[in-house]
Amino acid sequence: MGSPKVVAISLLLGSLLGNSAFAQSPTYGFGRTPTAEELRRMDISISHEGDELPSGRGNAKQGAQVYLDKGCAACHGATGIEGMAPILRSKRSAKLPIWERERILPLRAPHATIVWDYIRRGMPAGLEGTLTPDEVYALTAYLLFLNDVIPEDQVLDRQSLPKVKMPIGDNYAKEHDWKPNTPRLEGYPY
Ligand code: HEC
Repeated sequence: MGSPKVVAISLLLGSLLGNSAFAQSPTYGFGRTPTAEELRRMDISISHEGDELPSGRGNAKQGAQVYLDKGCAACHGATGIEGMAPILRSKRSAKLPIWERERILPLRAPHATIVWDYIRRGMPAGLEGTLTPDEVYALTAYLLFLNDVIPEDQVLDRQSLPKVKMPIGDNYAKEHDWKPNTPRLEGYPY
């Protein structure tokens, strides 16, 4: 709700221009119904079960090439750790418990579909939304491979991606046993 000043200006404009100028939406008096094409472009959310995933496929080898072609290396470094942007590959041993490795999306995410959705939605920064489904599958495979989550030759597509077992397993959703006024959990990093 606007301030009294904004309301007053709206009323003044309304009476000057006639109410038809504000009658685009019957309920709120502004905005318009999005076109089917606008809705299609925005409707890209992927649930963790991956039901909405588009067809396409890619493996880590193809992803390594896309990573170079699409300029990911410019911000994240040639192998995911040398750039100004957050690191994409854990520098710590895969034998360590997951909480002792870095907080990296392609490692710590509870579902591989989240990594896929993030890359399609948000990367490359500045050119979001320009990657094809094949490129996103390949990049996801590459980043999961770099973090020892899947083998290099594993093909990711709408069937196999949701089945990837992320190292965190069911731990992300486990209820902790901390109670108010007791010391913090031992080993809890945050
Ligand atoms: C212009 C610089 C830039 C480019 C190019 C770029 N990124 Fe990023 N990326 C970032 C920044 C900055 C963040 C952190 C964003 C944030 O936390 O809000 C990020 C975050 C990420 C993350 C999440 C990291 C995490 O652990 O939270 C992934 C995955 C990722 N980028 C993948 C890619 C891929 C794949 C490409 C190439 C298609 C790419 N990025 C290109 C700047 C870039």
